[in-house]
Amino acid sequence: MAEVHVMDHPLIQHKINFIRRKEVGSKDFRSIVGEIAALMCYEATRDLKLQDVEIETPICKMVGKELSGKKLAVVPILRAGLGMVDGMLNMIPAAKVGHIGLYRDPETFKPVEYYCKLPADCDEREVFVVDPMLATGGSSSAAITMLKEKGVKHIRFMCILAAPEGVARMQKDHPDVDLYIGALDECLNEHAYIVPGLGDAGDRIFGTK
Ligand code: URA
Repeated sequence: MAEVHVMDHPLIQHKINFIRRKEVGSKDFRSIVGEIAALMCYEATRDLKLQDVEIETPICKMVGKELSGKKLAVVPILRAGLGMVDGMLNMIPAAKVGHIGLYRDPETFKPVEYYCKLPADCDEREVFVVDPMLATGGSSSAAITMLKEKGVKHIRFMCILAAPEGVARMQKDHPDVDLYIGALDECLNEHAYIVPGLGDAGDRIFGTK
């Protein structure tokens, strides 16, 4: 079963609480989403493998630790996931970035891929799929299924807010994908918005409505 990590760092909780407020405008919302993504990236990379590396400081030789193991990639789910990319790259600047876009077919209600561009070696990378809101889990689950169909093997999913419904859906569909959640909210409302939530993350990041 997938591990579910709900962030307990005070800075993450403080910043999430700040952007929930309806009066926070796009400029602040966008920059704080970036800060939250960076802090969550720090927490979600705690278990990355290290290797011993011999280096020379201005004083002497030493054996230090550097990242080893799989290279990393960040894959935002369009559009709101874009708001988390810069924050992630601040922490892991060597990561490659892919993009995946889905829309819901108005007749079948099934998610349809309209865009997907991934790093060529994505199948060998540890891939962090990012989307600020895990609501029903429909599009996140579909995005991860599509990545798996393209050969991606190692996936983690990161969101700022999650509803229990979305967590349950992800655990059922993708028990191999660990979840990193900024805050776990109460439920979904009748429009599939997270409650208490923060509204439409994409609109708030990009100033659209
Ligand atoms: N997507 C959003 O942007 N907000 C929600 O509350 C649910 C899905």
